[in-house]
Formats: sequence, structure tokens, C-alpha cells
Amino acid sequence: MKTLSIIRPDDWHLHLRDGPGLASYVAATARQFARAIVMPNLVPPVTATERARAYRERILAALPDDMAFEPLMTLYLTDQTSPEEIRQARASGIVKGVKYYPAGATTHSDSGVTRVEKTYNALAAMEESGLPLLVHGEVVNDEVDIFDRERIFIDQILEPLTVRFPALKVVLEHVTTKDAVGFVKAASDRMAATITVHHLMLNRNAMFKGGMNPHHYCLPVLKREIHRQALLEVAVSGHPRFFLGTDSAPHPRHAKESACGCAGIFSAPAAIELYAEVFDEAGALDKLEGFASRHGPAFYGLPVNDDHITLVKRPWTMPATIPCGTEEVVPLRAGGEVLWSLAHGSHG
Ligand code: NCD
Ligand code: ZN
Repeated sequence: MKTLSIIRPDDWHLHLRDGPGLASYVAATARQFARAIVMPNLVPPVTATERARAYRERILAALPDDMAFEPLMTLYLTDQTSPEEIRQARASGIVKGVKYYPAGATTHSDSGVTRVEKTYNALAAMEESGLPLLVHGEVVNDEVDIFDRERIFIDQILEPLTVRFPALKVVLEHVTTKDAVGFVKAASDRMAATITVHHLMLNRNAMFKGGMNPHHYCLPVLKREIHRQALLEVAVSGHPRFFLGTDSAPHPRHAKESACGCAGIFSAPAAIELYAEVFDEAGALDKLEGFASRHGPAFYGLPVNDDHITLVKRPWTMPATIPCGTEEVVPLRAGGEVLWSLAHGSHG
């Protein structure tokens, strides 16, 4: 049987929510990952270090006793974020990045940035203190086609930003296009990108196969096959500035299966297994450890993890739904076969 042992991976882009589902979401991630960048789009958003500290405590309190996990906290950038707030965040040691949501771009982004110019003072403080900016790279104007949002954001916002703040560390989150891949590759070593497993596995047909599939609707939305191929190519190439970020984003089943279903894919229940499947199919299992366990820590200036996990090519069936707190959530690959299993080093 095919097996693969790698340094325990981390997830550099994760939504854990808050409240009754938190314990299930933390456990789903901690089973496989040692650390995760925890996104701050709660209601209300995590805009200050004290809120990040309290959220971190709630995450750790929800962690099952037999699991180890380190939440890496983020702040939610707003038009009002002050340089002083940034300096406090950096000094805290628990905040590892600041998330830029264009206002209206996605789930709980109403408090996001309305005009990038309003954040210049905060960005200057981040550049000076070395705190990375984590970017949801999509414009939201109605005139721009939803499939072009990322490309236009790069041209209009991100490229000028890198000229104005050349030393700012930036992670372009959940890249979905060949344009984003090309931009990040051509940029300096201050620019990196995360790639989700669903954008590696699926193209936009997945949303419409046999009818409307709300569980494949996420933001940025799935793209054409040529874009998926560009993501896959760079992920398996071993490029050090591309790394694993699931963007696992659980929503209750009724909120997805609704007249106006929300965006988000819950991939944590089989994340590393599905990444293994993708890398295996591409004949690049030897590149999984770099992508999942080495490139992220190198970019964030953190040590790699000191234990290992073992993956085995042994299929199992993903449940159709997973109970999480008071809700049920439909995971990625629901009711289908996952080809790889986490055999050893599974927490819990
Ligand atoms: C995320 C969520 O639900 O919090 N949704 C998503 O489609 N990825 C927010 C986000 O990262 O866009
Ligand atoms: Zn996200």
C-alpha cells in the first residue's frame, strides 16, 4: 500500500467561527494540522489585539484534551485600524497577520476596507514591524464580472500597493487564477500565496453539474479549467512562495441550501487527505511536504513542526453531513470516497 510520511502540516488560512460549533471545527483541523492562521471574520470582527486574545482563549478552551493545536491569530483591517493597534498586535506575539477584506467581498466583510488609501497608515506600520498583510484579492464593483474580480484587484489595488510598500509582506490568499499565479511568481520574496484544495480539485463546472450545487459555491468563486491547471502546476512545482491554506469555511447546511445560499466550503474533515490525493494524481507526492509543512513556516518566519504524520492510500467514505454543535454541516466530498487516509499522527 502506498504510504507517505511528512512533517506535520499547518493550515495558513482557516475559518473556525465561534459559539457552539467551535469545538467541532477546532477538532477537525487539529486532527491533522499543528497550527492554523485563524481568520478574523466573526460578528463582530476581531479588530483589536484584545479581541484576538479572547478568541484565542476560546479556541484553546474548545480544543479536546488529547489534541495539541496552536491558533495563529489575525486582526481584521478596517478603515479605522490605527498604527498603534498594529504595533500592539505585533508586540503581543499572538497576532501573526492582518486580514484585508474589501468591504462586501465575502461572508462578514461589511466592516472591511472601503478604500485602500484609508489603510495607508496601518500598512506603513505593518511594513515597519514586519506583520504580514493577508489579502482577500477581489474587487466588488457591480460592473466587474465575478470571474474577473481577482485579476482586476491585482491590477488596480495589489500591484500599486506593492510599489508603495515594497517591504510589506503580503499573502495573496486563496489564489484562483493563472493571473494571480503569474503575479505572485514575478513578485519579490515578500509576496506569497495560499491555495485551497477545492480550487486545486474543481473547476467551475462543479457548481452546475447536474443542477445547482451550493456546496461548491465559495469565494473567490471556482474558475475555468485553465486556471485550475495553473494552480495545480505551481502547487506541485515546489515553488517556495506557494503553500497550503484550506479556507475551510463551515456554514450550517440550511444556510448553504437556501434561496440565497452563502459562500464557503468545509474541507477540514479531509483536508490533508484531499491534498494528498491531488498531489498523487499529479505524480508529485514528493512535493507535498514542502507545500504543506515547510513553505508556510519559512514565509512567516516560524519553525517547522517537530513531529510527522503518515498518510496511506486507503479509501474511506466521507459522511454526507457532520454534526457540529447545534448544526449539521455538509463537508467537501460529502458521501463520496476519499482515496487517502491519515494513518499515523492523527490527533484524537
Ligand atoms: C469564507 C467564510 O465563509 O468565512 N467564505 C468563503 O467562501 N471562502 C470567507 C472568505 O474567506 O471569503
Ligand atoms: Zn477565507
